[in-house]
Amino acid sequence: MKEILSKDTKDYSKICLEKVINMGIDFKLNNKFKEKNYDISNFSELLEIPNKGTELNELLDYFKNEIMPYCSNFSNEKFMSFPDSGNSTAAISGAILSDFLQQNLINSSFCAPIATHMEIAVIKWLRELLGYEIKEIKNIWDVGGVITYGGTGSNATAMLLARENHNSKTMIEGVKSPENYKVVIPKGIAHYSIRSSLMWIGCGNNILEVPTKDYRYNLDELKKTLIENKGKIMSVVCYVGDSRTQSIDNLTEIYKLVKEIDENIWLHADACHGFSLAFSKKLKCKIEGIQYFDSISTDPHKVLATPYCISALLIKDPENFKLVTSSSDLIMQEDYAFGQVTPFIGSKSWVSLKLWFMIKNIGIEKIGQMIEKRCEMAQYLSKKIINSNDFVLLNSVNINSVVFMYVQDKEKLDSINIKKINEKNIDIHKQLSEEGIYHLHQFSLTDDNGIIKQGEVLFPLRYMSGNPNITKKDIDDMLTYLRKLALK
Ligand SMILES: Cc1ncc(COP(=O)(O)O)c(C=O)c1O
Repeated sequence: MKEILSKDTKDYSKICLEKVINMGIDFKLNNKFKEKNYDISNFSELLEIPNKGTELNELLDYFKNEIMPYCSNFSNEKFMSFPDSGNSTAAISGAILSDFLQQNLINSSFCAPIATHMEIAVIKWLRELLGYEIKEIKNIWDVGGVITYGGTGSNATAMLLARENHNSKTMIEGVKSPENYKVVIPKGIAHYSIRSSLMWIGCGNNILEVPTKDYRYNLDELKKTLIENKGKIMSVVCYVGDSRTQSIDNLTEIYKLVKEIDENIWLHADACHGFSLAFSKKLKCKIEGIQYFDSISTDPHKVLATPYCISALLIKDPENFKLVTSSSDLIMQEDYAFGQVTPFIGSKSWVSLKLWFMIKNIGIEKIGQMIEKRCEMAQYLSKKIINSNDFVLLNSVNINSVVFMYVQDKEKLDSINIKKINEKNIDIHKQLSEEGIYHLHQFSLTDDNGIIKQGEVLFPLRYMSGNPNITKKDIDDMLTYLRKLALK
């Protein structure tokens, strides 16, 4: 059977897989962010059930010509809306090899002995970089972290830990009074995964939103909320690079404030973006204090040149995973079986292998330089915007997010019509999406700094890139292009 890899089909499989690699590389190096805009009318064709198979070479040609042109190419230099391009050749190698090797990290001894230890090593490297204490690892309860499939999974696991830390009988007895399991988040910038996680784990929509200033907690308001709700708060969530503005909260101050009021509150840092700064000696100081937090979400697939999906949830006290352990005779009760500490995950592919390859290949020092460069590029754009007459900058650029708006004439900001300026920026974004040449992100954002008008909801454009191939010229060209669209 030609379709199945075997000694007899080895040569055929190699030819097909070589073709796959070439297709992937050519796609990533394509000059356009998107070749063609997808037409929804093709959907019904995609839904047709394939009763008869298609030979793989032929199927690959079909895929190359009929599917790939509609895919978004994060690796294109004009794609400037998401933080990473996943362009580490080593990480891609790890991704491919993990599928070949088919290790299942739910158990360690029979299906993934060395893979388990390599995953533990990756977690240890991240913990060490972020400043958590490293103890001798004798079993899974000493590891202090789990690999998940994304920031959402890491945040959900953190909320589960917070719930059990708040009331350790909840796993057995269920949530009795959800209003006593509140979670504090910063208003307007929190990622939806926290609110959703609380609903998934039976705590309901018991979110307390605290006002912000410059996209960080207003500390007076935070204190007030903590005092008013004392005993009913299970967690405070802080952002170390929020999804919109990449602001970094006042980590040490928040730690002191929260633990002084209630030592038992679980402090969670969503550092899906910002943990990357830990790789740079120069930038690490920006995340000082993160090591005091009870848990930290990290997303290598967002910031470490590593393809989707891989996230890691790290916790300060490794023993705390005992709060949410799964026990079944289907998971081996062995020292290193990850299945005992990975809520929501059963079979577990070796997704950490791509990160292992990437870190081993580039090394911490050079990764640090790569992170510094992406921050410098964002600073370069922010200066261009500040010095322009027609764009305003809405955030303090901390990592690599530049949130800005076309306003036509900065001198006339006082008399600006906010509705019209929102419409103009929505129109620019619509034109960008239709043309498929450049890509920037757009979302709603409250003006926290009074740049246009304090408290107004704006629809800015957002540059964010971690693509090491982007140059200053690409950024200059993007601004020129935006001006052209704005004046259309
Ligand atoms: C700050 C932050 N946390 C969590 C997430 C969720 O990550 P994922 O999409 O990998 O589940 C995101 C995604 O954008 C994010 O920006």
